Amino acid sequence: LLLGIDIGTSSVKVSVVDAATQTAVAAAQYPDTESPIKSVQPGWAEQSPDMWWEQAQQAIQRCHTSGKYNPADIATIGIAYQMHGLVLVDKDQQVLRDSIIWCDSRAVQIGDKAFDEIGHGVCLSHFLNSPGNFTAAKLAWVKQNEPEVYNMIDKIMLPGDYIAMKLTGEVTTSASALSEGIFFDFLNNRLSETIINYFGFSPELFPEIRPVFAGHGNLLPSVAEQLGLKQGIPVAYKAGDQPNNALSLNVLKPGEVAATAGTSGVIYGVSDQLTYDPQSRVNTFAHVNYTEAQRRMGVLLCINGTGSLNRWVKSIFGSAISYGQMNDIAKQAPAGSDGLRVLPFGNGAERMLNNKLIGVHFHHIDLNLHQQPHLFRAVQEGIACAFRYGLDIMRENGMNPTLIRAGKANLFLSDLFTEAFVNATGVPVELYQNDGSVGAALGAGIGSGIFSSPEEAFSQIKSIQTIQPSTSVYEPVYQEWKALLERQLAVEQ
Ligand code: XUL
Repeated sequence: LLLGIDIGTSSVKVSVVDAATQTAVAAAQYPDTESPIKSVQPGWAEQSPDMWWEQAQQAIQRCHTSGKYNPADIATIGIAYQMHGLVLVDKDQQVLRDSIIWCDSRAVQIGDKAFDEIGHGVCLSHFLNSPGNFTAAKLAWVKQNEPEVYNMIDKIMLPGDYIAMKLTGEVTTSASALSEGIFFDFLNNRLSETIINYFGFSPELFPEIRPVFAGHGNLLPSVAEQLGLKQGIPVAYKAGDQPNNALSLNVLKPGEVAATAGTSGVIYGVSDQLTYDPQSRVNTFAHVNYTEAQRRMGVLLCINGTGSLNRWVKSIFGSAISYGQMNDIAKQAPAGSDGLRVLPFGNGAERMLNNKLIGVHFHHIDLNLHQQPHLFRAVQEGIACAFRYGLDIMRENGMNPTLIRAGKANLFLSDLFTEAFVNATGVPVELYQNDGSVGAALGAGIGSGIFSSPEEAFSQIKSIQTIQPSTSVYEPVYQEWKALLERQLAVEQ
């Protein structure tokens, strides 16, 4: 059996997967309500790494209590995690401050200044991105603003590295993880001297680099006892949630494309080129199967305000109902929501908008016409339009998907959203019944040699449904939405 842990922004999910059938024998999530994000100033977002660890332990226990397997049969562990978050520990492996997470925007100016001062050409050719709002800029913020914390740092790491450290006592990382932090130099295939010299970071702060599919330490006896698992089993896979989602959909070859619409919304395409967007609105990181000899890059479009907006709307306007009920109510409004338009950008600096923090905008509300169904529908349509806008940036940069694979989860559980996505982008979506924690478990199976290759790990994956574009009704909706966005961006200049 394989154990997969997915450290999400809104909860932790764990699956126990049977390697023979490649399917989950048990799965659990923790907590039941959504995890808090601390935001003490506008644009800031923090979570406690110890909260993630506590949630992971609770979710593992919930799986065990299903009674569907013997925990002693679990042979390996894989971890997927919310990307770009900064975790700092001291020499006793104690957390020094809350993690500054992916949708925190405090470091945008620091990152933009670094982009200009290091030079756009150098940044794009070596890191494939602007330091923008990524982990390196967040660490520089700590160095500048909290020197007492910075001076106590023994190791910096990403959220998944932290969970692996709690399990094994070892701190490791990967090229993929360093690339998502903008610490990795692709031209020299190592930790970037340019970035660490520019910000004045010591190379000692960085963990050892290992492949994503590799031993990242073995379960400590005390932790094994606490979790009811076998001592010494390896953590054999660690990846950011988006590359992991791609893995879980068997998206590993150039030209293949995956999407998610969880807290954030992502389209993730695999390329064999060191490609980049000159404005860094779309990002390129090392994929799970990246090696120096065989470059497999993940070209990633991220929208921060996706499930996060839907959740907010639910909490404000529909707290007593479920997401499924919200989707049913949304269907009572016609496609195009009778002119109600939503710009879904309320969860921090949006990379595809050049790191602008524009917030959510509701346009053309007509008090005599619009009701709750319009509101719920317009939110999902606004998110679909944001995907189209981002996909057009990917197309500008030469990535032109003809099919997108997605897990039937989060917003892809909504037919209305899925149809709006397909028709606004013009790209068919193939839906699968799997999720990130299953992907992480299968990743561990690859990393520990239970599967001889990713092909073997995904030999039984089957799509459940393909949704083809069927109507042009969203084209004028999108054009109107885009004009509203451009007007708003001009105001924000
Ligand atoms: C991807 C990104 C988000 C987080 C969400 O670049 O920032 O999708 O990974 O967990």
